[in-house]
Amino acid sequence: MKFEKDILCVGAGYVGGPTMAMIAYKCPQYKVTVVDINPTRIAQWNSPNLPIYEPGLQEVVEAARGRNLFFSTDIEKGIEEAGIIFVCVNTPTKTFGEGAGLASDLQYLEKTARQIIQSANSPKIIIEKSTLPVRTAQAMERILASNPKGIHFDVLSNPEFLAEGDAIKDLENPDRVLIGSRETANGIKAREELIEIYANWVPREHIISSNIWSSELAKLVANAFLAQRISSINSISALCEASEADVSEVARAVGMDSRVGPKFLNSSVGFGGSCFQKDILNLVYICRHYGLNEVADYWQRVVDINNYQKGRFVMNMLKAMFNTLAGKRICLLGFAFKADTGDTRESPALFITKKLLDERVNLVITDPAALENAKFDLQGTEGQIDFVADPYEAIAGCEAVAVITEWGIYKELDFERIFSSMTKPAFIFDGRNILDHHRLFKMGFNVFPIGKPALTHF
Ligand code: NAD
Ligand code: UGA
Repeated sequence: MKFEKDILCVGAGYVGGPTMAMIAYKCPQYKVTVVDINPTRIAQWNSPNLPIYEPGLQEVVEAARGRNLFFSTDIEKGIEEAGIIFVCVNTPTKTFGEGAGLASDLQYLEKTARQIIQSANSPKIIIEKSTLPVRTAQAMERILASNPKGIHFDVLSNPEFLAEGDAIKDLENPDRVLIGSRETANGIKAREELIEIYANWVPREHIISSNIWSSELAKLVANAFLAQRISSINSISALCEASEADVSEVARAVGMDSRVGPKFLNSSVGFGGSCFQKDILNLVYICRHYGLNEVADYWQRVVDINNYQKGRFVMNMLKAMFNTLAGKRICLLGFAFKADTGDTRESPALFITKKLLDERVNLVITDPAALENAKFDLQGTEGQIDFVADPYEAIAGCEAVAVITEWGIYKELDFERIFSSMTKPAFIFDGRNILDHHRLFKMGFNVFPIGKPALTHF
């Protein structure tokens, strides 16, 4: 079959895999190939056991795989054949050298650019889908323009706004698709070609375009604003605990103002995930680079409050359990950074685990989708943690349970059964405020929600 377009994606991760699966699913007339340097990941994408857990993903992949969706390690061939290349590689926080701990590590992006130069024999549209510092497209253009074959490349910015756990829903029905381009004839032509792809299923009014720097920056700012809302409500949760106000009631009253809106006001044990902290720190770094120290300080505080919230959660456990946790058996209910994903990157669970191990807790971890990732993350702690899939088994014999991830199944657990299996006095620390606290208290639990008065029997 002759395809209308040959699309390549470099990077088969949490973004590359699902976004390309959705394009292939919606557009059978295009050939979509996803390549990666990691052969294990590619083998998993080609198997019944996909490398990431995401509701609805399996169905979308299975509908298109082998028809017009392909996963491969042959990066050279992919580049040679494609007219459009999405770059979806990881851009983690730099851990070395200048900007360590703040700036984005762009080595994977640059390697991809160099690989494109090496393998390309014809003009191509290169699309930044990775989240990048503002003005990265300029560096990308300069590297690509250095190709000795004189090939013309157009660079577009098309940041991804999907949230894990909701990826398929977000990709199928995005709030907006943002495309940044140069305002040159070539830039506009490239932009139109990308618009044509999305227009196969996204209403035109949801596809917006901007100048390329605005597009790069808008992605960082979108994440910063979302994270800022969580830090704002989390800061208020501390005040609620001190003043006997209830953070859910405060959030409800505030969020009903249509100018504020109700979303992202759930107080929690702290935000996690591979992007919020990374992207804000990157924003902080860029502001400092431009000498905007007040602006940098402002955004840094969003991360500071998040760290404070995670630390506060452990301190509350310590204080509630008579100022010693040593030798106590405690279960973490959930390890993923949010529900409906197996992803544990920057999960608050990692921080909490470390702090509880420092206190010499005898820890049990359970999670319906993230247990393998948790084991991998916690290598080196052998003998100090039990990993148990069944939540009832995990909690039996514990003195305390801490809800870290808001999995729906945790709301449905039989807490009478759980209470009878625990060592008394039994404690619940609800880091997500998902449980019925008054009911648990009546059963005999000592209950410590976030941002609400504790319910204790002593
Ligand atoms: P990821 O680590 O899951 O995937 C990146 C993939 O790129 C890896 O499989 C890696 O092996 C591959 N890779 C790296 N260098 C390569 C190279 N030179 N050639 C081929 N493959 C290469 O990362 P992710 O979560 O998919 O994030 C990718 C980008 O998208 C990041 O910039 C991130 O900030 C952004 N983003 C992520 C999300 C999310 O929900 N995870 C959402 C929006 C945007
Ligand atoms: C976030 C953004 O929502 C996406 O738009 C963006 O594309 C993505 O980052 C990215 O760039 O990687 P994600 O991190 O997958 O998506 O998940 P979110 O739903 O945003 O949750 C992030 C963290 O905040 C989780 O730990 C979650 O539990 C926490 N959270 C969220 C709260 O504590 N309270 C809330 O009210 C909402």
